[in-house]
Amino acid sequence: VCSVKPSIATPSPLSVDGSPNQGINRIESLTQVSGVLGCQWGDEGKGKLVDILAQHFDIVARCQGGANAGHTIYNAEGKKFALHLVPSGILNEETLCVIGNGVVVHLPGLFKEIDGLQSNGVSCKGRILVSDRAHLLFDFHQVVDGLRESELAKSFIGTTKRGIGPCYSNKVIRNGIRVSDLRHMDTFPQKLDLLLSDVASRFRGFEYGPHVLKEEVEKYKRFAERLEPFIADTVLVVNEAISEKKKILVEGGQATMLDIDFGTYPFVTSSSPSAGGICTGLGIAPRVLGDLVGVVKAYTTRVGSGPFPTEILGHGGDLLRFAGQEFGTTTGRPRRCGWLDIAALKYCCQINGFSSLNLTKLDVLSDLPEIQLGVAYKQIDGTQIKSFPADLRDLEQLKVEYEVLPGWKTDISSVRNYSDLPKAARQYVERIEELVGVPVHYIGVGPGRDALIYK
Ligand code: GTP
Repeated sequence: VCSVKPSIATPSPLSVDGSPNQGINRIESLTQVSGVLGCQWGDEGKGKLVDILAQHFDIVARCQGGANAGHTIYNAEGKKFALHLVPSGILNEETLCVIGNGVVVHLPGLFKEIDGLQSNGVSCKGRILVSDRAHLLFDFHQVVDGLRESELAKSFIGTTKRGIGPCYSNKVIRNGIRVSDLRHMDTFPQKLDLLLSDVASRFRGFEYGPHVLKEEVEKYKRFAERLEPFIADTVLVVNEAISEKKKILVEGGQATMLDIDFGTYPFVTSSSPSAGGICTGLGIAPRVLGDLVGVVKAYTTRVGSGPFPTEILGHGGDLLRFAGQEFGTTTGRPRRCGWLDIAALKYCCQINGFSSLNLTKLDVLSDLPEIQLGVAYKQIDGTQIKSFPADLRDLEQLKVEYEVLPGWKTDISSVRNYSDLPKAARQYVERIEELVGVPVHYIGVGPGRDALIYK
């Protein structure tokens, strides 16, 4: 399982809907190592683009995060798959899926996902590799996530309670347990005991005793056996694949505005969903990184707490929420909705150096008579703010300057050529390109694989 299959990156002359179009040129010209990253606060629709591009890449790799990502993709028959840990390339039979060292892996969740895929006829054997350096996320990490959130009371972060933060905390304070530890069941119980005792001493009400440890160890003995064929030194696999000129697509989870360093701290995730996270989360050199596609929704959404300068409160927000079906894939939570925030997008483009953008869910704006674009941030006294403020208080107090653009009031979900979009829709896309200085190469007009316009 450690070896990579022969290159399948021979591009098909047909587009995703089976007809020839300019899309294939866009995909063919992507560099050997390319990435798809979220530009906002997650849920931009990265999964769909990754799934489409995966057909032309040998490897699809995840480099950060865990089961807090909730990619939704559809197969050729229109069947819906919600993936959390398994890379979105899994529906393409020829693609090898890598879960890199930077990912935190919840084994019960991973096996559940694999079972679900296999029972729907998607083969996973030999197609998923899990890094021996990846950290294990245990059920108790999820309990700790909840306990920490309740301690924070009113200023809670609004995490998905999947245990991601507590697992990364253990990684950073260096008492975490890694996938490779499953190969040493003699020392595994000791390591787990240390972790669980630590939690028990920290949180009153966290039940822990020898019976808990025994049960957990037994469970992980079984998991270790089942995981063995999937475990690999993915740093070696990926770097060998690069030397062999195989094509690698990196699938980002979450998004830059949730980045532990660059996001709206502390309302962020615990990993680096921006460009830097690709190198640290896969063990590849920055110079091999090529095209990065930033995925940005035609408006903005955010789950949980934290600053959101262009948020639309009340009825307007509800309209977008229902039109865009903005409810979390992982948690079902309603997402907060607002206008596209160009100041945040420019900041995100600066950090990641995107070569192009994928504007998703343009179809969702179709009913609106006019559309607002948050083009700049200003202080209360009217002076322009040059970049995205680090300070939460500054973010809460700033004023957003809007431009109002005409809506198109036409269903665009069946449009496949850019020139066939209504003039107002093209104006909207081109104004975004002009403001951020990065070309939009892909436009989503519906959830299906084929609902994509190549520009
Ligand atoms: P995270 O990693 O959790 O941030 O997920 P994601 O960015 O991959 O988002 P997800 O795949 O959950 O996509 C959000 C939803 O939007 C899914 O239901 C997609 O099917 C849907 N979607 C994606 N692109 C489009 C589009 O262009 N139009 C419409 N209407 N829906 C879309």
